[in-house]
Amino acid sequence: MSPEMTEPEIQKVQQGIKEKYDRVAAAGSGGCFQYPTGKAGMELQGYSPELIKIFPPEVLAAFCGVGNPFSLGSLAPGDAVLDIGCGAGVDSLVAAHLVGAGGRVMGLDVTPAMVERARAHQARLGLANVTFQVGEAEALPFPDATFDAIISNGVFNLTLDKEKALNEAHRVLKPGGRLMLADMVLVAALPPDLGDKVENWFQ
Ligand SMILES: C[S@@+](CC[C@H](N)C(=O)[O-])C[C@H]1O[C@@H](n2cnc3c(N)ncnc32)[C@H](O)[C@@H]1O
Repeated sequence: MSPEMTEPEIQKVQQGIKEKYDRVAAAGSGGCFQYPTGKAGMELQGYSPELIKIFPPEVLAAFCGVGNPFSLGSLAPGDAVLDIGCGAGVDSLVAAHLVGAGGRVMGLDVTPAMVERARAHQARLGLANVTFQVGEAEALPFPDATFDAIISNGVFNLTLDKEKALNEAHRVLKPGGRLMLADMVLVAALPPDLGDKVENWFQ
């Protein structure tokens, strides 16, 4: 846990994340982020046009990733893949397409409403090789050495204990497994006048 955070600050961040992603699940990603989301975000992040055209507009609209984990390595047919912080499931569905019927994808997210959205998108696409589950990056509900690859997009910046979340990812990867993680990082200290650091956590 971040040593400089008090218990009330931690609770405020957790509550803020829940409220924000409840809103995103209900209203979609449009207008909720300071970067391009939806289909425009996927195009900007270099998702292949062939992949983008597989998905209906309402699924593409739910993308709120900050990068493209698929640009960091490949997924092979038959792979077992975990998507940490899957949101409404767009990357999980991309992965399900890439690993094929012989592979399997698990999408995990801490916000139940986002998991419901992901399940609705899965049903819309009729993909049988992907499952969605509620859970936390810091306490992955899977045995050791379960997955060939982990993808994650825009999530680790939101975790309160990054070391624990990374250790958990390492634990559930098979030996030689790949962590394909896209995220935002601070490249300099926040300006002192930025305001409440807790409020800024999940903007
Ligand atoms: C910016 S969205 C990205 C969603 C998805 N990866 C995408 O690219 O569309 C961040 C997601 O991380 C989830 N999240 C935040 N903290 C989490 C945690 N500690 N464990 C699991 N999921 C978390 C949120 O509920 C939200 O759905």
